[in-house]
Amino acid sequence: MKAPITPLSFFKILAFLSKTNHNLLISWHISYWGMGIIEKAREIAGIIERQDEICIVTHCDADGITGAAIAKKALDEIGIKCEIKVVRYLSRKILQGVDKFTWFIDLGNGNIAGINGNAVITDHHFSNEYHERALNPFYYGIDGETEISAAGLAYLVASNFSDFDATLAIMGAIGDLQDLRFGRLTGINRQLLKNSKVEIKKDIRIYGRKKPLYKMIAYATDPVIPGIFKRVRNAIGFLSRIDIDYKKSWNECSREEKKKILSELIKILVTKGFSYDYITRIFGEVYELDGEDIREYATLLNSIGKYGYGMEAIKMCIEEKFDGKNLLKKHRSKICNYIEYAKKKLDEYKGIYYFHGGNYIMDTVVGTVAGMILREEDFSTPLLAFAENEEGIKVSARAPYNLVEKGLNLSIAMKNAAEMLGGNGGGHKAAAGAIIPKGMEERFLQIFDAEIRNQLTL
Ligand code: C5P
Repeated sequence: MKAPITPLSFFKILAFLSKTNHNLLISWHISYWGMGIIEKAREIAGIIERQDEICIVTHCDADGITGAAIAKKALDEIGIKCEIKVVRYLSRKILQGVDKFTWFIDLGNGNIAGINGNAVITDHHFSNEYHERALNPFYYGIDGETEISAAGLAYLVASNFSDFDATLAIMGAIGDLQDLRFGRLTGINRQLLKNSKVEIKKDIRIYGRKKPLYKMIAYATDPVIPGIFKRVRNAIGFLSRIDIDYKKSWNECSREEKKKILSELIKILVTKGFSYDYITRIFGEVYELDGEDIREYATLLNSIGKYGYGMEAIKMCIEEKFDGKNLLKKHRSKICNYIEYAKKKLDEYKGIYYFHGGNYIMDTVVGTVAGMILREEDFSTPLLAFAENEEGIKVSARAPYNLVEKGLNLSIAMKNAAEMLGGNGGGHKAAAGAIIPKGMEERFLQIFDAEIRNQLTL
């Protein structure tokens, strides 16, 4: 009798095949119930093409912005009218206000029960709740945190009725930090990369290769350089000690100088006891568009979108004119002030650190602030952040990746804790958010702590 093909052996066969033919990689992602993600994207494209008018509801970050730009560009090409709503999160109010056929981008997976059949969803956030018209990578064994972003999903759909390249999809993936975990883009993102104008280079992965060296290393966040982080004088001292002109940019350095800087930085990280995985992230793949680090564009879109200029950001993507340097400068100085404020407010609840940004830190960037503090302070526990908004309290959580490897899933913890208090939440394993009623912060900490202990069986 022949052995039955179980889902596992099926995937093993696919893995074997993947060594022999790369072009088919995308279509090999087959769900347990038989339909591949590409086939599902085609089905969703068919539904979209039958509409006269569409409302796009998208998230205000770089992934949502590029996703909406892809959708709008493609719908314009086939003459379907569309309006766009750029939102910070999907509240009940927004869901109730939607009356047209809707294309949800970068959100929706956390609100499946509230989304009717007159919609399609291209969201990469984790959810195992089924929706007939959702292109959810997790249904197909694809990791939506590293292998495809919402912009990538929108592209898989849109490429059925238009034929522009996948540059915006890569910008969305980079904006969503999908290359962070492995130090490179993987999975479907890798295939999209081949179909884009983005160039892959091997270089230092620290942001700001065109900035003066002392600024580049002082503000490096992945990895953070201990003793130098945010200490410009120490950065200048370090570079002078190794005989490098600190005003030069990385791109202006010779090969020998680059080698010297890299090996000295690695020495610092080794002496401080950082892991091999952490240290090796310093050098690897970087992605450039027209000679510019693509992270520059993604950061710009993120800040413009989160400050309430989502439509302007979408227009930039469609017109491919990325100019917003002044806004970016303003954003950076605000973030620095927020970090300072948050650090003063840092508190602890049973080993979980948290801060309350009150109405000082904008709810749209409180998560960014938490992420930066987590990396800067090298926290080994999750970090929670609260901020007020018009609906209640916005909560953001960030956690180091080694906890995710031990079984932590912030998305589930935030969703469960928020729902117990009448709110809602979701996101990713290492970065998640929620909305809860005002005055429930302490109760939230208690429930969240219990959820985390349960996940990590502490
Ligand atoms: O806002 P923040 O940056 O903390 O969000 C982290 C992640 O959590 C994002 O992917 C966001 O879409 C998700 N989130 C959510 N529900 C909320 C707030 C955020 O799913 N109410």
